[in-house]
Amino acid sequence: MVTSWPLGDSVIDASNSNKPFLRSLMGETLSPPPCWLMRQAGRYLPEYRAVRAQANGFLDLCYTPEKATEVTLQPLRRYGFDAAILFSDILVVPDALGQAVRFQEGEGPKLTPVRTSEQLDALTLDGFQDRLRPVFETVSCLKKAIPTSTALIGFAGAPWTVATYMVEGSGSKDFLETKAMAYGRPDLFQRLIDLLVEATGDYLIRQIDHGAEAVQLFDSWAGALPEDEFAKWVIAPTRRLVDRLKTERPGIPVIGFPKGVGALYLPFVEQTGVDAVSLDTSVPLGWAVKTLQPTVTLQGNLDPALVVTGGPALDAAVDRILSLCTKGPFIFNLGHGILQTTPPDHVARLVERVRAWRG
Ligand code: CP3
Repeated sequence: MVTSWPLGDSVIDASNSNKPFLRSLMGETLSPPPCWLMRQAGRYLPEYRAVRAQANGFLDLCYTPEKATEVTLQPLRRYGFDAAILFSDILVVPDALGQAVRFQEGEGPKLTPVRTSEQLDALTLDGFQDRLRPVFETVSCLKKAIPTSTALIGFAGAPWTVATYMVEGSGSKDFLETKAMAYGRPDLFQRLIDLLVEATGDYLIRQIDHGAEAVQLFDSWAGALPEDEFAKWVIAPTRRLVDRLKTERPGIPVIGFPKGVGALYLPFVEQTGVDAVSLDTSVPLGWAVKTLQPTVTLQGNLDPALVVTGGPALDAAVDRILSLCTKGPFIFNLGHGILQTTPPDHVARLVERVRAWRG
């Protein structure tokens, strides 16, 4: 059974697409559903670690098209996912704006913090696209290399999440520096968000022009904000980005991932105009199916830890998600990125089980 609905003003015709991932994003109900996994390329794969060991640091890997193309393709060769996601990182955007970004082995990202008006003034869109040229080249290479039934996903971090790294200078648990700016100096923080909305829009449009067929906005730390601040720093900038993409590149589906926002998934869906939402692990699926799936495609929400565990616990959780979500448009995925300690065989088991589903 195939159903579809018109998406906003732009009715997208995916009926002749042979890519299940895109058909699902455009509102079709497919059984079995298409499947890909966040962070499907990465350190859990020995072949990734081999390429990574030869790169001169993580950013060098992101900025070397041959290597970035190779690691994007690795999980496709093993598992035949329905979508490839460009191998890059959300922090190439601050890097290309002129903020120093380093990836410390074992410590995560380190940036020179942006906390004052002068530090913000030092960031610039001049040369932004030039610095990112290797990423666009990777997208072009991928478009030629992936199987015809596989879709190519471009991505960026959403402005709020990227801003947390820019202001904190690293990952954070409490986001106190970022909140001090957002709550205490909202005009300054708004300038940073405005810059990110513009830069991220430029970046995604170039990815689309080089071959990305859908884009995902990762807002990993959206769940740190109270409701009214969420409206200002997550919903409003996301909406501006979606509006620009829908105007300038109509027909390209947008997936939002406001991780950890609970009931705020509903205003996010109602107010941003995204075509699909990625659900984190904590979202109750019965609620999401009833409340969100009538208007957007759902994606998610398997706990990545279950793929580390494997065995009957993994099988049962996969079956539960499939039986709850596949009566409407749905894409099988995790609730967050694949964990480094995941045995590759467990991923194979998961994919086999999803593919065998006849709901
Ligand atoms: O999904 C994919 O396969 C595509 C590639 C991808 C990476 N990062 C590669 C990566 C994507 C989509 C991201 C997004 C990203 N990056 C997010 C949003 C999603 C999420 O996980 O919440 C965030 C917050 C980042 C920032 C980032 N990049 C951090 C905090 C770290 C260090 C943490 C860690 O896992 O070490 C990275 C590094 C990173 N990005 C790695 C990979 C494969 C590991 C780096 C390595 O190989 O040394």
